[in-house]
Amino acid sequence: MPAKPQTFHVKSFGCQMNVYDGERMAELMAAEGMIATDDAAAADLVVLNTCHIREKATEKVYSDIGRLRKTARGLGRAEPMIAVAGCVAQAEGEEIVARAKVDVVVGPQAYHNLPKLVSDAAAGTPALDTDMPPLSKFGRLPARRRVGPTAFLTVQEGCDKFCTYCVVPYTRGAEISRPFDAIVDEATALVDAGAREITLLGQNVNAWDEDGRGLHDLIVALDRIPGLARIRYTTSHPNDMRQGLIDAHRDVESLMPFLHLPVQAGSDRVLRAMNRSHTRDSYLRLLDTIRAARPDIALSGDFIVGFPGETDAEFEETLSLVDAVGYAQAFSFKYSPRPGTPAADLDGAVPAAVMDERLQRLQAALNRDQQAFNKASVGKSCDVLIERRGKLPGQMLGKSPWLQSVHLVGDHAIGDLVRVELIHAGPNSLSGREKTPVAA
Ligand code: SAH
Ligand code: SF4
Ligand code: F3S
Repeated sequence: MPAKPQTFHVKSFGCQMNVYDGERMAELMAAEGMIATDDAAAADLVVLNTCHIREKATEKVYSDIGRLRKTARGLGRAEPMIAVAGCVAQAEGEEIVARAKVDVVVGPQAYHNLPKLVSDAAAGTPALDTDMPPLSKFGRLPARRRVGPTAFLTVQEGCDKFCTYCVVPYTRGAEISRPFDAIVDEATALVDAGAREITLLGQNVNAWDEDGRGLHDLIVALDRIPGLARIRYTTSHPNDMRQGLIDAHRDVESLMPFLHLPVQAGSDRVLRAMNRSHTRDSYLRLLDTIRAARPDIALSGDFIVGFPGETDAEFEETLSLVDAVGYAQAFSFKYSPRPGTPAADLDGAVPAAVMDERLQRLQAALNRDQQAFNKASVGKSCDVLIERRGKLPGQMLGKSPWLQSVHLVGDHAIGDLVRVELIHAGPNSLSGREKTPVAA
């Protein structure tokens, strides 16, 4: 029976919301008097905060469990208590207990119970909680502690869209919006704890709604918090992009000119088979409206290649959509069949070699556009929010409004906003030169 742990380590594998959940679990355990350690091998309790989105992500949890136990044995230590949290815990709870004999399994809507589950496990009671009581976790989490200059804040959770390839509606549950006041309170606490930029998170963040008020109303309220310089949000669904939010990109100065708006594929037949409920054309027209409101907006997207039945000609339509949009950055994935999703039962699996080739071609196009976007930024002036020190002496790293990494040399503190001119674009980052303020 594992003893009651004194030290803990949280490892997050998934999306930004998964990272947010990991931070909140760490705060919970710290509030219980446990001490965080960066070294998983030295921790009495390791929380594996898992992701179920693709098969590779899911398999990682099992290899990690094996590795943790082996390392402990190699060091002559007792094996750590292992808690599996996150979306794999939700999807495969019982199976993880059977297959890996872990001490605790806790789903993404139940982690406010983690301290109790850990005590139960230490007392020898198997501890599994994958209940989905809507919203109840948020009210039971401790106040935010010290944070860095950028922070995540979950405002919306779950998904009702049921894209046919995706596990999220099953692992995160139905769409729910956190209450307006609770979000404003948490944002204020984050700013008090040092945040200068907040990224609002949701699986469909732009579906946030409270009595008809939308995400833009929330953004306008957060814009009024003194000390909060930048607001971002992710991930959005094309069908939830309301006019108010588009207008906010024109009207709210602290709302950064960046939009992650996944499209997944460029062919209407594939989009229909994915149950995306938008077309190629409706997506492109939406981008026209957004660019009309905020011409310098940087666009980002997600793509899946090799959805069952995707033909060469249909894949070419994804490439031509990419050409038409000119993304500033994007993520692209090979289709991974997920148990329990409708697409997993479809015929027409695309051979692995074809998938590989499509992914390479798509990524080449996306890289080309990212470089072009970065090159086109050279000569512009903008604020950079300093996030950390660089490797070279005096070098600082931060982000432009368009989410580009920018390095510069200067005597700045983390969290400073520095006015720079972008002078050079490398493959993954830009360099900036501080603009000397003109004497008044
Ligand atoms: N809610 C967001 C993101 C969901 S997951 C949205 O709707 O856009 C992040 C990305 O993972 C998705 O946008 C999709 O591109 C990818 N993804 C989801 N399921 C997948 C699967 N089964 N195989 C490959 N990629 C997948
Ligand atoms: Fe998954 Fe689609 Fe929901 Fe995004 S909108 S989380 S891709 S089901
Ligand atoms: Fe992964 Fe769950 Fe996020 S499946 S992508 S951790 S919502």
